[in-house]
Amino acid sequence: MTAEDEWRLLLALVSREFGLVFQDARRGHLESRLTPRLQALGLESFGAYHRYLARHPQRGAELSMLARILPNNETYFFREAHHFDLLVQHVVPQLSMPSRCGPLRVLCAGCSTGDEAYSIVIALQRAGLERAGLPWQIDACDLNPECIAQANQGLYEVGSLRACDEPERAAHFCAQGDRFRLRSEHRKGTSFFEANLAVAGLELPGAPYQVIFCRNVLIYFCEEAFHRALSHFHRALDQSGYLFLGHSESLIGRRSDFQPVRLGDSIVYRKRGAGS
Ligand SMILES: C[S@@+](CC[C@H](N)C(=O)[O-])C[C@H]1O[C@@H](n2cnc3c(N)ncnc32)[C@H](O)[C@@H]1O
Repeated sequence: MTAEDEWRLLLALVSREFGLVFQDARRGHLESRLTPRLQALGLESFGAYHRYLARHPQRGAELSMLARILPNNETYFFREAHHFDLLVQHVVPQLSMPSRCGPLRVLCAGCSTGDEAYSIVIALQRAGLERAGLPWQIDACDLNPECIAQANQGLYEVGSLRACDEPERAAHFCAQGDRFRLRSEHRKGTSFFEANLAVAGLELPGAPYQVIFCRNVLIYFCEEAFHRALSHFHRALDQSGYLFLGHSESLIGRRSDFQPVRLGDSIVYRKRGAGS
């Protein structure tokens, strides 16, 4: 087997385990992330690393290491801010009818360090849900356990606040050294957990959700993981619920059980048959 064949086997394993696909253009980037792992394990080639990940008794620990180093965890507060406006202006008023029982249930899938989930809390608070006595539960999950740990800490580098102006920073964060701690009131109704969206039969604990955010995640997925994640969301979403994807993750022209719906200037998704 050539070195190129071994490299392809490794890519296929990464895609099977995590759903992640690495185009040839990102090969250098991936190699630079994996090389320290080969060195740490005393392995001499990507072929040997593939065999370790496929068969070694400690493969689980190494896969968990890969979940920390492979994904792109880029995120920040109020990224694609128009989605939070749509949520409070169009979606919540429809879902928060007096007949609805229990909290507004939201899932953030691929939440990274929690910036997106906490942006939703802040948006709901600004919209006056607390004053109106409308509670929420935001479940947020990610593959990377280090991201989940940071989300639980609520402590952020300045880059996470790049879309917040000075008054917003002062209102929502306390400076702590050169970092920023999210004020505790904005953590209300949130719960973070590890989950791999690429595995079959994933159970999402708070389903059914009225809203699912999965933004800038599916863009990194192979075709199989893309459809698997959508099938998790289809099972977990309430019949009248809404799915928000990132701007480069359109389902238009792709096979899926969701239909695009225009809300304001944006496209969001609902289950087929849910009405427009
Ligand atoms: C680019 S970040 C996007 C974060 C946030 N949704 C946003 O839009 O700002 C992508 C996140 O998806 C997570 N991710 C990648 N593969 C995943 C998988 N198979 N299951 C769950 N999360 C995954 C990564 O760990 C990363 O934190």
